[in-house]
Amino acid sequence: MDGMDRLLLATPNCADLARPNVEIKRFPDGEAYVRVLEEAEGKHVTVLHRCYPKQDSSILQLLLVGSALAPVAKSLTAVVPYLPYARQDKAWKSGEAKSAEIICSLLTHSGFSKLVTFDCHFLKKGGEHKRDRLTIVNKSMGKMIEDYLSRSVPDPVVVSPDAGAGYLVEGHGHAMKKVRGEYVTDDKTAYREVKELSMDFSVNGRDVIVLDDMIAGGGTMERAVHLCYEAGAKSVRCGATHGLFLNFADQRITEAGAVEVVSSDTVPGMYAKVSIREHLFTAPLAQFI
Ligand code: R5P
Repeated sequence: MDGMDRLLLATPNCADLARPNVEIKRFPDGEAYVRVLEEAEGKHVTVLHRCYPKQDSSILQLLLVGSALAPVAKSLTAVVPYLPYARQDKAWKSGEAKSAEIICSLLTHSGFSKLVTFDCHFLKKGGEHKRDRLTIVNKSMGKMIEDYLSRSVPDPVVVSPDAGAGYLVEGHGHAMKKVRGEYVTDDKTAYREVKELSMDFSVNGRDVIVLDDMIAGGGTMERAVHLCYEAGAKSVRCGATHGLFLNFADQRITEAGAVEVVSSDTVPGMYAKVSIREHLFTAPLAQFI
């Protein structure tokens, strides 16, 4: 594959990462309109598109872009920095949907053979994975976020708040043990609270960095910060690849005593201090772009 037969397409919600060359608009009834503005015939095409916020409509836009390209492109790769619907890969209760599977199969059916994403929740480790016919390259922002948070604490204890995010600290850190409770639901939302959080290692007198794949409602991180201080930590800093910060999660984590809170720009926002750019535009990932 040489540079001539590769094409990078970016949608408007990735304008901070690459020049947009896909048009996304709405028909008067609210339905999505997409149009690829480059010639894709016979090319290995990579589509850079954020699927959060407004995940339902953003995913549909990506599927439409894929289906417009599939008949002409030689191959199709989607780069989705934060993959939504990745948190449910099992049916915990009968009748639930395994949304992670559905998303992978929708991408495959709209023509994508490869998905590049970051700290994907259901994969729980980096590297290349297969889901049916879809190859998923799961990049990690853990190291870059840890380096960023370490700049003012040279000898931190690095911790993940649960075993699922344990791969972020594997080989040099510790994983807390988290037990989620039953779903708490009202008429609109379903949320599993953190029932218990514990650790079997010492943080007494130490600077702690807590690293997670994501901060959503913030319950996990808030509990982790409290737990570290109760165990005698000198300071606690928090980092997560995907910073959703729902329902004032940032405020609650800060009020718990976090000295610093940082995320990557998989989801843009005021805490997104570490960029995925380096992963996207330098080798080895650049080969897809
Ligand atoms: C869970 O298993 C993940 O690794 C995160 O800890 C979790 O998704 C964070 O969610 P929240 O911020 O709502 O506690």
